[in-house]
Amino acid sequence: MKTISIQDLKEGMILAQDIIGKYDLVFLTRGTRIIDEHIERIQNMDFMYVYIMDQDEIKEKVETHQLNRKVDEKLNEQYNKSLRSFKRIYDEVSLGKKIEAEIVQQSVSPLIEEVMTDNNILARLRSMKIVDDYTYKHSVNVCILSTMIGKWMKYSENDLNELAISAMLHDIGKSKIPKDILNKPARLSKDECRIMKGHATLGYEMLQKQRKISFDICCGVLQHHERLDGSGYPLGLKGGKIHRFARIIAVADIFDAMTSERVYKPKESPFKVAELIAQNRFGVLDPMISNQFLWNISKFYVGNIVKLNTGDIGEIVLINKQMPTRPLVKINNEFIDLNEQAEYTIMEVII
Ligand SMILES: [Fe+2]
Repeated sequence: MKTISIQDLKEGMILAQDIIGKYDLVFLTRGTRIIDEHIERIQNMDFMYVYIMDQDEIKEKVETHQLNRKVDEKLNEQYNKSLRSFKRIYDEVSLGKKIEAEIVQQSVSPLIEEVMTDNNILARLRSMKIVDDYTYKHSVNVCILSTMIGKWMKYSENDLNELAISAMLHDIGKSKIPKDILNKPARLSKDECRIMKGHATLGYEMLQKQRKISFDICCGVLQHHERLDGSGYPLGLKGGKIHRFARIIAVADIFDAMTSERVYKPKESPFKVAELIAQNRFGVLDPMISNQFLWNISKFYVGNIVKLNTGDIGEIVLINKQMPTRPLVKINNEFIDLNEQAEYTIMEVII
């Protein structure tokens, strides 16, 4: 690291310090490669000197970047491994075969390993190239999200494993639902809706017969559409009667389903979905699970570029712990606190 005068700052140099601007917020972070626009802005601030990285530090930064790319490749590989195992289970079950506990375990193990070692898995998930059928992908995503929530809730290793299996199999009952109803790109009729809702019970019945699948796993599958106020299905269970796995899977299921693109609907912004979870966290969804989820996933988005409902493009610079879905966004040189300015909404996470 070396100090240089502001006048000597040149394009391509790499900052070795954070540059703190207006409102005591970080304007540029350590590691930023300087461009002309930055030089102009830094020169307009009251700085005389800045710290920049020397060659050794730059080399280290490049190595870290390459390491991160390797992590992405590994996650991609593990994800696809799980996807393939799950696809096998799902396709065999829809042909009338029994669920094999060993293959289910094979399908969740790579994901648990990734969730336990990578704290930034959600951000990495978004950048992965996966081209596959929604049903399989949704199950794998719900498995990852549920395991992450379980980790934040400090679940034991054994509980995490059972939760992951339950989440992976949460919609397995859909393998018995006629394809024309399952993939209908329009609103379902009353009768079709009733058949579709049967997937929770169907899944439970399929798993309950298996000796190596625990009762807890079965409860997560049966109850993942139950809601705390009794408005869910299949039994309309209330409050404490709903299994803890099912409460976690419910949050993960809503988040992934709404943030995914389908033939009949565009994907919603993760912040819009997080707001919906926040609105439902008292009475409908489990408040403790929802809060853990909202706080932890919001943190992943610091530094991301977002598009607001006004069309403005900005960067998320700070997450408000009380209102994690309403962060502070920097647009050019202005800061917009979404918590105070209700008219703004995040429509899209660009990067
Ligand atoms: Fe479901």
